[in-house]
Formats: sequence, C-alpha cells, structure tokens
Amino acid sequence: MSATGRSPVRRVDDFYETPAWGVRAIVPHLGLRPSDRVLDPCCGRGAITQALPSDLDLVGLELDAGRASEAASLGHTVQCRDALAPEPWPAHRVLLTNPPYRLALEFVERALREAAPRGVVAMLLRLGFLESKKRAAFHQQHPADVFVLSERPSFTGRGTDAAAYGWFLWGGRGGRWRLLVAAR
Ligand SMILES: C[S@@+](CC[C@H](N)C(=O)[O-])C[C@H]1O[C@@H](n2cnc3c(N)ncnc32)[C@H](O)[C@@H]1O
Repeated sequence: MSATGRSPVRRVDDFYETPAWGVRAIVPHLGLRPSDRVLDPCCGRGAITQALPSDLDLVGLELDAGRASEAASLGHTVQCRDALAPEPWPAHRVLLTNPPYRLALEFVERALREAAPRGVVAMLLRLGFLESKKRAAFHQQHPADVFVLSERPSFTGRGTDAAAYGWFLWGGRGGRWRLLVAAR
C-alpha cells in the first residue's frame, strides 16, 4: 500500500512489498485451515503468499507481467490480469493483500463482494484509511477489526514508511482494534 513515501518518487503501480514479519503477525488471526485457498488479488512478486504456511492453496492476481511471472515461479497459481476488471476472482476462503494505495477502497469493496460466506478479508492499510468523509459511509456499513502493527513496516528495505499501518480484517465481529507486537 505504501505511501507516503519519504521518497518524492512513487513506484509504478504502487509496487511496495510487504515484509514477511508483517504477514506472520496476522496469520494467527485468520483462522486458516490446512488446504485453504488464499487469494492475493494484487500479489506483486508473491511476498505475502510466500510468507504463509506452505500447506495452503495460494493464488494470486497481478497486473504486471514480470511480477506475475516471479510470483508464479514460487509455485503459486498466478493470473496476470487487472483485478478490478469485471471478470470474477478465483473462489477463495481467505483473502490477504496489501493493495495499491490509490485503489485501496476499490480493492476493499471488490474483495467484500467476492468474499465467500464466512470468508475472511484482510488488507494491510494505513491507519488513515479509518478517516475521511469519503470513507465514512463505508466504515459504518462494514466495520473492520483493526490489528495495528506496533512497528512501522519498511516496504522498500530502506527505512520505514511515514505512516502507521494495520491489518483491517472483515469476517469477524467488526469494530474492535488490538495491537500486534512485531516478532521478527
Ligand atoms: C503495494 S504492491 C503489493 C504487492 C504484494 N501484495 C505485496 O504485498 O508484496 C501492489 C501491487 O498491486 C499491483 N496492482 C496494481 N493495480 C492492480 C490491478 N488493477 N490488478 C492487479 N494488480 C494490480 C501492482 O502491480 C503491485 O504489484
């Protein structure tokens, strides 16, 4: 999702990789079962899926052909396509992603429409996603549980982002928050 970049130059397609520790922090809260299908609809080079337990069925979508092919080389099923185009997403029980910053709300709304009954949607987002007039109605209708990362992630390997982040999870009770203390 990142940001806020302290660098004035944003990466093409908002390509910022999620550090593995940030993924591992949310795993215990996803209720994963062996062989679950987990989808990352904007999977980049597969940083999120690669950090998940290997007994899962890992599926990704990615706009950029080079990154899609790198993710596929990890052994995941990856389709190179625009995830926001009308074609439905592969069926899945759990969705986990770090969406492009500019399209965060579009990805969240689409993910909720594509979610399986009793499925789980988890998105790594800036905590600022909680605010703004634009999103108020959405949050009232779809309150997430927010798991705040105790440390700011580095999406580039060169210093941390200028914003605080958390995993926003839909599929639980909603409207609660807790702190995730980073374990590396
Ligand atoms: C913030 S990066 C996250 C990548 C990966 N999920 C991770 O955490 O390392 C966002 C990714 O979304 C991809 N992307 C942007 N728009 C997309 C779209 N409409 N459909 C599919 N992928 C898209 C970008 O190419 C980029 O790789």
